[in-house]
Amino acid sequence: MVTKVNGSTKRVGLSPTMHNGFYGRDILSVKQFAREDLDYIFGVAEEMEAIVRRVGATDLLKGSILANLFYEPSTRTSSSFAAAMQRLGGSVIPINEVRYSSVTKGESLPDTIRTLEAYADLVVLRHPEVGASQIAARYSRKPIINAGDGVGEHPTQALLDLFTIQQELGRVDGLHIAMAGDLKYGRTVHSLARLLCLYDVEMSFVSPDILRLPEEVRDEVIALGKPVRETHAIEDIIETVDVLYVTRVQKERFSDLTQYESVRNLYEVTTDLMSRAKPKMILMHPLPRVGEIHYDVDADPRAAYFRQMENGMYVRMALLAAVLGKA
Ligand code: CP
Repeated sequence: MVTKVNGSTKRVGLSPTMHNGFYGRDILSVKQFAREDLDYIFGVAEEMEAIVRRVGATDLLKGSILANLFYEPSTRTSSSFAAAMQRLGGSVIPINEVRYSSVTKGESLPDTIRTLEAYADLVVLRHPEVGASQIAARYSRKPIINAGDGVGEHPTQALLDLFTIQQELGRVDGLHIAMAGDLKYGRTVHSLARLLCLYDVEMSFVSPDILRLPEEVRDEVIALGKPVRETHAIEDIIETVDVLYVTRVQKERFSDLTQYESVRNLYEVTTDLMSRAKPKMILMHPLPRVGEIHYDVDADPRAAYFRQMENGMYVRMALLAAVLGKA
């Protein structure tokens, strides 16, 4: 079994690899990654993909248990973490419906975490409040993986996004990457924009005024030496982008639904729009989509969002193996 290496707690049992800085650690924010960490994880993810394609599963994490604790809805993150653990030979405690757990009886997040860390070797947590995974990590001796904390971050999504860019286009450096849609509430954008600062990229941000990138993220990106180019229209950037990353307008984050109605249908990527894009660009979306990409676009080979979604499982397999010291 593994306990966290922070502070005075210790690694027990398994030996970390030479390159694995993830062993026994929480994964809370993309700010904790350096480029060599990403190279390491992506290398392991490629190996995981090869294993899955060749034999479907391995027993690398046999006997390990993941607690999947989701206070917000999820299809991809929850099921890809579960599939990742199972393909590595481990098992999963699924708490995807907290309303059927003791949370409904008023149990606090710290007590819920203390309970699950007693049964599992690590906890994947999605929660509606920014910073919830940091709080959970303070109470847990076992690693916590942030699977989305409100409008804060979604670090494992950013890892799979970056892995997809590298897989699809063979590199990240030198690309023009545009993010479009709900940049204010879209935690995947907050994480990806920060992570891209490790690379030599040009970034554009496309949104209506009320959904602009939060000041905090914008300032961080600028402080890391990247100009923040903002515009209202995808048409302004479609001809020059290598990656167009479209996001859903997040209805659940709006307190004023009339504001949501005013922006919900502003962007739709159509086959017409794609006809103006570069032949080698890719179109990405963290999914779910609710109208931002027309279904006709799915047949375009540049539509990478379903491959992106599948990559989530390989990247999460790599992350689980790394955090549990078996990568
Ligand atoms: N991309 C993503 O986080 O999807 P889910 O909300 O379905 O997990």
